[in-house]
Amino acid sequence: MAQKIQGTEDLFGGYMRAWQHMQDVARELFGAYGFDMIETPAIEQVDTFVHGIGESTDVVRKEMFRVVSGALMENLLAAGSERGLKAKQRMAMRPEGTAGVVRSVVENNLVPQGAAPAKLWYAEAMFRGERPQKGRLRQFHQVGVEWLGAPDPAADAECIIMLMEFYKRLGFDPARLRLSINSMGDAACRPAYRQMVRDFILAHADEMCEDCLERAEINPLRSFDCKNDHCREVMAAAPLAKDNLCDDCRTHYEQVKRYLDAAGVAYVEDPTLVRGLDYYTRTVFEVEALDAGVGAIGGGGRYDGLVELEGGKPTPGIGFAVGFERIALALAAQGGSLETPEEGCVYVACASPEQRGAVFEATLALRQAGIRSEADYQGRSLKSQFKQADKCHARLCVVLGEEELARGFATLRDMESHEQVQVPLPELAPQVASRIA
Ligand code: HAM
Repeated sequence: MAQKIQGTEDLFGGYMRAWQHMQDVARELFGAYGFDMIETPAIEQVDTFVHGIGESTDVVRKEMFRVVSGALMENLLAAGSERGLKAKQRMAMRPEGTAGVVRSVVENNLVPQGAAPAKLWYAEAMFRGERPQKGRLRQFHQVGVEWLGAPDPAADAECIIMLMEFYKRLGFDPARLRLSINSMGDAACRPAYRQMVRDFILAHADEMCEDCLERAEINPLRSFDCKNDHCREVMAAAPLAKDNLCDDCRTHYEQVKRYLDAAGVAYVEDPTLVRGLDYYTRTVFEVEALDAGVGAIGGGGRYDGLVELEGGKPTPGIGFAVGFERIALALAAQGGSLETPEEGCVYVACASPEQRGAVFEATLALRQAGIRSEADYQGRSLKSQFKQADKCHARLCVVLGEEELARGFATLRDMESHEQVQVPLPELAPQVASRIA
């Protein structure tokens, strides 16, 4: 039997409806904040991710799925390395949405100088070659937003406020979520801070793991996230970004917090929150569902240098993404559910096979009127058609029998009360519509 790849999932039934529900909630809420939907290709040039996410990140170094066509694979195998490939031929599945959206904003000039900011949201599958476990998939789904061209700290605060409202509308109790925030500084103050952390790690080299020693050279801030408990103990004494911000970054961060306070959004400041993607500057944030055991259910931050890294003019940016699968797990762990009930339908039954043609016509008329309708396609008896109607959650059954049809009528049977009324055939669709409304 053919099997799906480990770390991937099929979305169908209630799970599919949950994903659609999440998108519906996003469309309504993000729409009110002025965001329009965007969809970028699932494959991009590797360089789009290397420039944006950062060459030294785990996502780029270890987790990106590379894409090679059959013909290219033959050339690659013959050449023994990808060195001969042109940039355009080096492709990868997107591990996240931000780099691709920013690439699209630059390529399509969506934020021309002096224009209004671009506010975009997406609901897409992402791909990361991680070791699959609960809440960690190789293909997962994110709803995310990217807001380009807004340097004001109010944009940071609005993003966070909108994110927390999103969780609330999905059914989370805000008291059981933890929002962590931090400022990572910018091009003016971060290089010196990075150097301080690097020096700190090297000064404690004999106490740190091999990975952290490598991180000291390529990405020292990631050592705050080391899985090794002892490294984290050592890092507890490392210099913190919040104590090493330049004046502009400090003022920006203070203003973001003031806006959050004014909006009544609860947060904790976590000075070790560094996030796993290199493009962040200033504000970063992450959300966890308490006692759910699935890790972060969302995160984001400001990325004022990313547009330039993707070849555009200096343009600030901020955004976030939330993971659908983790949200479904976290809500379930907290006793809730993302699933919406299956939509009810109207079942059109015939008393005997002679009325099959009339059923065909009545079903078409109902569907034309936008009413979700079902009928029998397997020659079932009337009794088993009623059973089938129950199975597909029909609230109403239209029964077409020889005698009613001869008089130009149909019988409407309420599946709950079993009450029956007769309606003239030309009025079938409006009568059904008003009864199920
Ligand atoms: P991220 O923190 O890498 O950020 O991912 C955002 C969310 O996607 C996570 O909080 C988690 O819920 C979900 N997620 C990540 N990896 C997996 C996985 N392997 N399996 C299941 N769910 C996962 C970003 O992706 C940034 N692009 C967010 C952003 C947008 N920053 C600015 N704009």
